[in-house]
Amino acid sequence: MKVVAAFVLCMAFSLGVAALHAETMTGADSSGATAAVGNELIAFPESYRDGVHYNTIDRGSIREEMYTSEAAIAAAKSGKPLPDGTVILNEWYEDGQLTHYFVMEKRIGWGADYSEDARAGDWRFRDFHPDRSPNLSDNGTGCMACHRSQAAKDFVWTRDRMNEAK
Ligand code: HEC
Repeated sequence: MKVVAAFVLCMAFSLGVAALHAETMTGADSSGATAAVGNELIAFPESYRDGVHYNTIDRGSIREEMYTSEAAIAAAKSGKPLPDGTVILNEWYEDGQLTHYFVMEKRIGWGADYSEDARAGDWRFRDFHPDRSPNLSDNGTGCMACHRSQAAKDFVWTRDRMNEAK
């Protein structure tokens, strides 16, 4: 019984995340923050596929493929904070079609422009369209708000999967 309940809870959570990811896609931002909070500093990481593919998530119509650098994987495996300059890219597919690239990037000092209750460490976040142009109606504050809950894992939900990467 417990296992079933946990599964149902897990699914409900996953769907919630998908819905919220979808919300960020349309540029909705419940934080009330105004534009230009600095996610324009994130350029599309054109060579991300030269890095490490460390995770796949498959949940029905949604599939996610995650990439980061070898340096980030090495740090994760040795229990260190992910290094300055780390980029994580999440390819987001809906019914097999790539619809978004979600990118988060960590630079020492980048969090200082945000208030303590808004920042997600030194990470900034940006949503890119399939043609790799940025979604200019999303300033990344909604992303931070959700990733903040993962502070103990350097704000990375799939941090544990990095330990298993080859
Ligand atoms: C409602 C919560 C929520 C919001 C909002 C959100 N994310 Fe995430 N994000 C997640 C979860 C949960 C995962 C782990 C994968 C999964 O379960 O779908 C994730 C995974 C990621 C990853 C892979 C690294 C990691 O943390 O596991 C990146 C990159 C990412 N998100 C970027 C973004 C960007 C960019 C935005 C805003 C445009 C955003 N996220 C908004 C919850 C959220």
